[in-house]
Amino acid sequence: MIELRQLSKQYGNIQAVVDLDLKIRRGEIFGLLGPNGAGKTTIVRVLTMLTRPSGGSASINGYEVNRDLRKVKKEIGVVPQHMNLDLELTARENLELHGRLHKMPRAQRQQRIQELLAYVELTERSNDLAGKYSGGMKRRLMIARALMHHPGVLFLDEPTAGLDPQARRKIWNLIRRMNSEGMTVLLTTHYIEEAEVLCHRVGIMDHGRLIALDTPAKFKKKVGEIVVEVLNHGNTKYRFFAGREQAAQYAGSLTENVVIREANLEDVFVELTGRKVGD
Ligand SMILES: Nc1ncnc2c1ncn2[C@@H]1O[C@H](COP(=O)(O)OP(=O)(O)OP(=O)(O)O)[C@@H](O)[C@H]1O
Ligand SMILES: [Mg+2]
Repeated sequence: MIELRQLSKQYGNIQAVVDLDLKIRRGEIFGLLGPNGAGKTTIVRVLTMLTRPSGGSASINGYEVNRDLRKVKKEIGVVPQHMNLDLELTARENLELHGRLHKMPRAQRQQRIQELLAYVELTERSNDLAGKYSGGMKRRLMIARALMHHPGVLFLDEPTAGLDPQARRKIWNLIRRMNSEGMTVLLTTHYIEEAEVLCHRVGIMDHGRLIALDTPAKFKKKVGEIVVEVLNHGNTKYRFFAGREQAAQYAGSLTENVVIREANLEDVFVELTGRKVGD
């Protein structure tokens, strides 16, 4: 379990995270969603001990993030937002290095590397330099690296940013598979559909605060499951309805062009913040 208690982080005058309380259950896939600068990466960095919180505290599987450094390190795997593989090393060597840093004995290291290369489908390319990998392959290698020491909690900061739909799907399948084998996952994303298909619960962040937290299905129920998009001189307005009938009735009363469709998490975000996720 991951627990944040009144967690805050300040960078100079910037309040990156403000008094955040959050509990993520063991075995859960939890998604943090929010626009640029919302504080998602800062939360990941505090929880993975890359930066100290300014206030409050956090624990992972009962170990305090600020106190039990070594114990926390064993519990967690991290896939950072920015690619930080050693591009001059092969995939295998990247994993080898990580295993050594975690003081895994040689035989165990070798076995785990074989296992993980197969798991992320990179066995055939394992002796290529990481620098020669595609974006999706690099991301899969970063995931394999994060899993080397058998962590129970995995942090994925924008795991599919910049990937094509097929590569993204591969990562999604990988995340689902890890989760079905017991992994707790905290991921951040800008992709609404990613949060929707992967996450048991989603926290929506804005300006360092959690402004809403629920399951994707309940979020959609709350704002209304059917949307009427009204297109008017290049402007789009949204109206939400509980059912298709009311939506159709409303649409029928308009003279503008309309689109009637099912609501998604993007609509929830727009409703809550008045902005689109990328804005
Ligand atoms: N090392 C740092 N020094 C100063 N300010 C920082 C630092 N890291 C983050 N910030 C600031 O903290 C705020 C939150 O940043 P953070 O990286 O957590 O956002 P994010 O939600 O991950 O955004 P993105 O979606 O763009 O990755 C921003 O205003 C950012 O400028
Ligand atoms: Mg970020």
